[in-house]
Amino acid sequence: MINDRRPEDMVRISTPELADAFIEEQVKELRDRIGEKKVLLALSGGVDSSVVAAILIRAIGQQLVCVHVNHGLLRKGEPEQVIEVFRNQMKANLIYVDATDRFLDKLAGVTDPETKRKIIGGEFIEVFAEEARKLDGIEFLAQGTIWPDILESEKGIKAHHNAGGLPEDMNFELVEPVKILFKDEVRVVGERLGLPSGMVYRQPFPGPGLGVRCPGAITRDRLEAVREADAILREEFSNHGLEGKVWQYFTVVPDFRSTGIRDGERVFEWPVIIRAVNTKDAMTAEVEEIPFELMKHLVKRITSEVKGVNRVLYDFTPKPTGTIEYE
Ligand code: XMP
Repeated sequence: MINDRRPEDMVRISTPELADAFIEEQVKELRDRIGEKKVLLALSGGVDSSVVAAILIRAIGQQLVCVHVNHGLLRKGEPEQVIEVFRNQMKANLIYVDATDRFLDKLAGVTDPETKRKIIGGEFIEVFAEEARKLDGIEFLAQGTIWPDILESEKGIKAHHNAGGLPEDMNFELVEPVKILFKDEVRVVGERLGLPSGMVYRQPFPGPGLGVRCPGAITRDRLEAVREADAILREEFSNHGLEGKVWQYFTVVPDFRSTGIRDGERVFEWPVIIRAVNTKDAMTAEVEEIPFELMKHLVKRITSEVKGVNRVLYDFTPKPTGTIEYE
């Protein structure tokens, strides 16, 4: 029987050999438990759900049905990577749903951060449930729950972040193959399952995605500016050896404009705010000291390549008093 709780004396999975042993054991358990039945998984492309997908693909292949919901708030290139890795390379049974218009239409004009979060979360469940209803014979729901999620929900710090929220008539049995692992262990296991390191070692990304980095009411043009500026920041951090070194970095485009000059003409455009922080547990955070040369290069690229942006600002605020995200 699969361990329901992490054994006290479990050795931390830090080597390929330990990861391989874990994978072998899980694959066997999963095959025994699932048999010929079908499993459904909401695959976001984040570390945990990707590793769960990879382990289930190894165990049961086409009996796993992955649903990737693109809510329009993902980073540049993310939906494409999910399709490339899972459908093209791993030959997974992947349903891709582009729900961008649905989400953005519901979010139009909504300024309150908590209401935005609720709309995104609620709509996600609705889209996922709609897809699930179209499928026959699903008996299991796989989730990327990890050990800290269990500990935190037991301590009452957060509601179990994966706990479904699906309509009550959809009572699937849960499959949580990485439930007893810490995040660093999930990454080692993911690498051994053949996932690209960019996917396994990627920085944290909030469920509501770029929606919380487009403060206030989300508009398509401002969202596009956040996405493009974020892509430039990630590319430059990677080129300058900061990828994997800085814990989390991203851009925010606030909902105000200022006067500027472009090609001798007056322009009235948004600023891009850059945030780059280091932390151990996200409860407190320190600001990364970005080299000034890199900063100047980022300003040049962002103001010339991102439509509607005439300034770049750097947020020097640690947490506290600033939270990491803006909403
Ligand atoms: P804050 O902004 O609270 O963020 O300092 C701490 C960490 O949590 C991430 N974060 C979220 N992750 N759903 C998530 O899955 C969310 O709604 C959410 N809000 C914040 C944030 O990116 C940072 O790493």
